[in-house]
Amino acid sequence: METIATPSQPGNPRKFPESFLWGTATATTQIEGHIQNEWTDFVATDGGTCRIACDSYHRYSEDIDWMGRLGVNSYRFGIEWSRLQHAPFAPLNRNELERYIDQIDRLCAAGIKPMLVLHHFSNPHWVNAVGGWTNSKTIAAFLDYVRKLVKALEGRIELWNTFNEPDTYACLAYLLGGFPPCNKWKLHRFRKVIGHMARAHQQASRIIRTESVGGERAQVGIAKNWTFFHAYKRFSPWDRLTAAACHYTFNKFVLDAFMGESRRHASTFIGLNYYGRVRFHHFSAMIPASGAPVKRLKDFGFVCDDMVERYPEGLGEILTYLQRKFRLPIYITEHGAASEDETFRERDLLNNLGALQRAIAQGVDVRGFYYWSLLDNFEWQFGYSKKFGLLSVDFKDPRLPRTMKPLGEAYSKICRANAL
Ligand code: FCB
Repeated sequence: METIATPSQPGNPRKFPESFLWGTATATTQIEGHIQNEWTDFVATDGGTCRIACDSYHRYSEDIDWMGRLGVNSYRFGIEWSRLQHAPFAPLNRNELERYIDQIDRLCAAGIKPMLVLHHFSNPHWVNAVGGWTNSKTIAAFLDYVRKLVKALEGRIELWNTFNEPDTYACLAYLLGGFPPCNKWKLHRFRKVIGHMARAHQQASRIIRTESVGGERAQVGIAKNWTFFHAYKRFSPWDRLTAAACHYTFNKFVLDAFMGESRRHASTFIGLNYYGRVRFHHFSAMIPASGAPVKRLKDFGFVCDDMVERYPEGLGEILTYLQRKFRLPIYITEHGAASEDETFRERDLLNNLGALQRAIAQGVDVRGFYYWSLLDNFEWQFGYSKKFGLLSVDFKDPRLPRTMKPLGEAYSKICRANAL
């Protein structure tokens, strides 16, 4: 057996560092319901909408009880901008704010440290009406919101995630057409969105760190989705070119925009969302999320969940790369697998946590891991067909009961033991 020693727990190779955060992650549109943003009228491929979702808007306290049963000590979740401001530069809606403050206070009372996400694939209608993030005016509107929110939360939040996966958002909304406004191949819009969000991140970071009570403690970062892009056949020049173009556009260009030059100092940590890789064969992305049947992919020797190819070996590689390049602490702000096969999901989790543990043992400063997701939920363009939850939700029952899944039990053991 391999011997792995974490810096803080040299006696026990299966242990994680002492103050490691074990969490789970969600997004407002995917779980809350009763939301008014660009997703409200969006109908997913399975016919589902986000209108009720998991009704966490009303059931957040029950969800926190479930987190207590899981034994997590952190929760990454969003505050929905469209609930708090009904017009540009408007005062924050008092009732909505109080509901979120109650949620945060209950989390803290349960010993669960909040990590707050400010933007996760959704905007208020009045932002979308002026072109969303393609319009540079959105930056000022967002900063006004952040400034007011930071003040209103009065030092309750230490971990701030400004933007979740700007690459995925801009790609699906402006290149692939999967997210509203469903534009296709508008490369200049993709680039504009990334540029504007990167500027907003830099300035929001300054506001958070200088204007929040206890701001000197505040830690700020984006959550960058990292996908490896490879050619299925190493010697296929066109597939290699496609993979290289994707890597350049979604990894390099986006990281440079958010972390290049003076922006490097805007982040105090890096959030990494890691799921796996995409391999190209005759120009097609060989993944279930692009329509390739899991069964056919299996014949190619690919191990996939219901979304992408699993590639736990890549996790150590990307962690080491990010550590060397930026020398900042890292949180794995999302990792998870969608499948009805719980044994598969558990294997996937253990493989990835094993890779994470080896990276930590080699000196990579990873401070936390957030499983995507607490609940089965509204998975954007795919609706309710992708099962990512540690808990299942019975969407056929109007009471939306939650039930612990086998993976939830397995994850709970890991969180409680702080060890594999
Ligand atoms: C990430 C998103 C998250 C969810 C998971 C499966 O890209 O941030 O909302 O869709 O993938």
